[in-house]
Amino acid sequence: MSASSFSTPALSNLLIYSLFTFTSPFDLEDKTQSRREFYLRSVYQHVFKDVKQVSSITHTSKLIIGSLSQTLSNRRIALCVTGSVAAVECVALSRLLMRHGSEVYAVMSPMAHKIIHPYLLEWATGNPVIVELTGQIEHITLAGKHDERVDLVLVAPATANTIGKMANGIDDTAVTTTVSSAIGAKIPVLVVPAMHESMFDHPAVVENIKKLKEIGVHVMSPRMEEAKAKIPDSEEIASRVISLLGPQDLNGKHFLITAGPTRGWMDRVRFITNPSSGRMGIEIANEVISRGGTVDLVLGPVSLSPPREANVRKVETPDEMLSSVTEILTKSKADVFISTAAVLDYVPSEMVDSKIPSGTAELAINLKPTVKIIDKVRKNHKKLFIVGFKVESGVTDKELEKRAKTKIESGVCDLVVANDALREGVAFDTETNQVLIVGLRGFVKHVPLSMKRDVAREIVNTIVEAMS
Ligand SMILES: Cc1cc2nc3c(=O)[nH]c(=O)nc-3n(C[C@H](O)[C@H](O)[C@H](O)COP(=O)(O)O)c2cc1C
Repeated sequence: MSASSFSTPALSNLLIYSLFTFTSPFDLEDKTQSRREFYLRSVYQHVFKDVKQVSSITHTSKLIIGSLSQTLSNRRIALCVTGSVAAVECVALSRLLMRHGSEVYAVMSPMAHKIIHPYLLEWATGNPVIVELTGQIEHITLAGKHDERVDLVLVAPATANTIGKMANGIDDTAVTTTVSSAIGAKIPVLVVPAMHESMFDHPAVVENIKKLKEIGVHVMSPRMEEAKAKIPDSEEIASRVISLLGPQDLNGKHFLITAGPTRGWMDRVRFITNPSSGRMGIEIANEVISRGGTVDLVLGPVSLSPPREANVRKVETPDEMLSSVTEILTKSKADVFISTAAVLDYVPSEMVDSKIPSGTAELAINLKPTVKIIDKVRKNHKKLFIVGFKVESGVTDKELEKRAKTKIESGVCDLVVANDALREGVAFDTETNQVLIVGLRGFVKHVPLSMKRDVAREIVNTIVEAMS
């Protein structure tokens, strides 16, 4: 099986060409130039209309494109799959890349399509799968020196065999030939090895990986588990792809970020808290890391996974969060402090060291205010760039802006990200957010309702602009 075409322009050219080369009935009936031109024009319009209709019928798999973020929007990735059992991970990987906005074109080695059927990747990506090279020169269409080429070639999983061939310029499968062309065309190539540890430790494999790195190919380190070099999870691979395709404008910058809720214990089994999921802070951490920055993440109790590359400190109470922040800022130099955590303003005045018995008609709990972490940080770090978050409820944009400005005017924050938790899809425990970014000298930026990763990019862009 091979893909006869994989782009709409190729398809339309083919259709238009074939219709124009057939003899028309008008050639026989009416040879006048004007009739012929009229005929050609109407055929062209008809075909063009049909081609448009064909191209507007999108594979339903593509409906997920951009559902997580627009980070890879307008990007095209060739996903090269080779003969490892880890080929089963490619479905999830391709879908994740698509959810971040990219088109994915799968290429398979002959051994890969013995392990998973190309139909599965065709379904996953919504595009025909290249399993062999034909007169369409698929490797050049995907990865040659021209404007329509893909933005990145991802070889995941990469077998010892394919690694050896790629390192030595051997092109005998659709995968190895696509990679060769990509290397020559200076398209970024990311290789994700997968094999048993015994194969990974072979000196030739070690040498081949070294060779690939020397010629500028990016190689991800596998997870060494159960005597195997396993491919990292899809999130990690996608975040490396995002990093390779995005700007590296935060190289050398260190960020301290707080995220998630905190808990105020009443007794041994009960606490007060808020519905923060930590997603906004985690997405900001992901964005910073993908742009080359380093992150200390002080994280309250959340179920979401923080980025692997972040230095994570898990905390529970507002006091613990304050001590971690203070300690990090004392020991290391941070360039930016982003306080996304929903730190409790009040906690129970005392924690009863057992379970308060149930069954009483009424129970009153006294609350005491907590220390404002952000105020304390500003007091001790006058030059630190501080970004605060302000959640309000049921206010107009004008009022939101006014309230956000108080933190700027008091000199505590350099930027304030404000939102209104009463609006649909905004603030706590949502995948989306809609924010107002307020800064010095009257700066105001409205970020419309978007996925939190996209909001994170807007916030980081604003920080970069404000600091430059
Ligand atoms: C079920 C199965 C799983 C395999 N898993 C791996 C693997 O994880 N890594 C590897 O290097 N080779 C693995 N192999 C061996 C490769 O498929 C074999 O070396 C093949 O020649 C690779 O061809 P390719 O690189 O063109 O895909 C596996 C073979 C089979 C049958």
